[in-house]
Amino acid sequence: MPDAPEVKATSNGIPSPSFHLPLPDRPDIITANVQKLTELTPNPRHRFIFKALIKHLHQFVNETSLTTDEWMAAIDFLTRTGQKCTPLRQETILLSDILGVSALVDSLNNPVVGGATENSILGPFFTEDAADVGFGESIASEGKGDYMYVEGRVLTTDGKPIPDAVIDTWETDDHGFYDTQYTDRSHPDCRGRLRSDKDGKFGYRAVVPVAYPVPGDGPVGELLLLLGRHNMRPNHLHMMVEAPGFHKLVTAFYPEGCEYLRSDCVFGVKKSLVVNLKDVVDDEESRKRGFPRGGSFKLLQYDLVLLTEEQSVTMRTGVEERYTTLGDHKSTKS
Ligand code: BEZ
Ligand code: FE
Repeated sequence: MPDAPEVKATSNGIPSPSFHLPLPDRPDIITANVQKLTELTPNPRHRFIFKALIKHLHQFVNETSLTTDEWMAAIDFLTRTGQKCTPLRQETILLSDILGVSALVDSLNNPVVGGATENSILGPFFTEDAADVGFGESIASEGKGDYMYVEGRVLTTDGKPIPDAVIDTWETDDHGFYDTQYTDRSHPDCRGRLRSDKDGKFGYRAVVPVAYPVPGDGPVGELLLLLGRHNMRPNHLHMMVEAPGFHKLVTAFYPEGCEYLRSDCVFGVKKSLVVNLKDVVDDEESRKRGFPRGGSFKLLQYDLVLLTEEQSVTMRTGVEERYTTLGDHKSTKS
């Protein structure tokens, strides 16, 4: 016999409600009961979100006539997805990515505003430890891929230069791996942090991005196989731009011509982010720009247009109004 516990098991302190729920003799009464209890949620935004979640989740179960085995398989899948996560591997975000939820949340929260550079999903490979890279320097060590020069300006929506903006940029090497995917990573590579100059200009050497697969050795990889979907991202170069008083831009550029451009497994591509890489076949120009082997290189030119914080708040307010008037009950964020 186990020792008698010294402390009595207690509730979380929330009293039982002033009403009694009908004991369900039909499935729809279960849904109504859950919604009635959810009405008690103190925070209006939380109440709104969870009422919508329960409505759609229960609707999904009804609509699909979900079997017990299917629901248990889903629970097993979600359990394994969580268990696959480590400080370096985020399988749950990957699930959100391949279901298009990351891209949808990103799009709703960063609406298109005339002229501003559009967002694209961050992905799991940004790191804080990128080295500072001066104007015209390289983010990639020699041999990491074909030469590419990236240049442009950081601008306001009315075309004024933004000096001293911090630009983080990262990409895979020509094997399709980020530096963090190598177990023997000794220093950051194919990533760098630079600043726009007094005219808002930036320029750096990089490598031509290649298409690569998102991790396929976990539950999300299994799900993609089950769905008959590939796990490839089209080739791209990530950029994140920050400047005081401006809304942080997280984006990526996708060279045209990639076979995966229109079936990105994480739905990150937007029309305005598809770029043309110019072929520069000029050995002298290549050496002048600092490419050690000379020869030809690709040129990516793009101006990064940032919203002020004020512009971004105005845009987001419109989105929030849409969020909070959907469904049965209005709510406000608090
Ligand atoms: C990426 O582009 O780095 C990425 C985005 C989503 C999932 C995996 C990778
Ligand atoms: Fe990426």
